[in-house]
Amino acid sequence: MNQNDMPTVDFSLDGQPVQALPGETVWEVAQRHGVAIPHLCHQPGLRPAGNCRACVVEVEGERVLAASCCRAPQPGMVVHTHSPRAQRAQRTVLQLLQADAPATTALRHDSELQHWATATGTPQHPGLKARGAVQAEAAQRGTDASHPAMSVNLDACIQCTRCVRACRETQGNDVLGLAFRGGHAQIVFDQNDPMGDSTCVACAPTT
Ligand code: FES
Repeated sequence: MNQNDMPTVDFSLDGQPVQALPGETVWEVAQRHGVAIPHLCHQPGLRPAGNCRACVVEVEGERVLAASCCRAPQPGMVVHTHSPRAQRAQRTVLQLLQADAPATTALRHDSELQHWATATGTPQHPGLKARGAVQAEAAQRGTDASHPAMSVNLDACIQCTRCVRACRETQGNDVLGLAFRGGHAQIVFDQNDPMGDSTCVACAPTT
């Protein structure tokens, strides 16, 4: 069905009746109504991946929380973006990601993780931070400064895969990928080549 032929969807968002336009996600409807939901792996213009879970919301009658960035509204659905359960989960995700950053990693002044931690009043969890620091230091990936035009600090990477999707789906270049597993997973250029030796064209998408 063409997206223009799809019907609008009436549902409830934080107690207010709202209408989703064809193809809109819960996150997009919230955004349009000025409701801020934390989000890290989602970037308007990129295909939603739903991998960070910072945007989870509570849907009445559903057992598990839903990632709002990739959840399509259903007629009559009742969504709570800031219920205690949703907020607890959103903050836990932020704390886990904060804990994963090595202590030696300087956060960028425009760190989105830090922005959402501040906006949601989420302090670093001392216990998580202590445990995460040990693992993070062990898995240090460092900075790839091999490219003449830009560098990448892989220690600050939260593997949101926005760069992968931008490279593949927006730029159509398919240089970036997510390699390895678990704590060793990391963004790589081509076959894990130094960025400067890879086929990267330094388009530097602002993701
Ligand atoms: S922003 Fe929705 S899962 Fe990451």
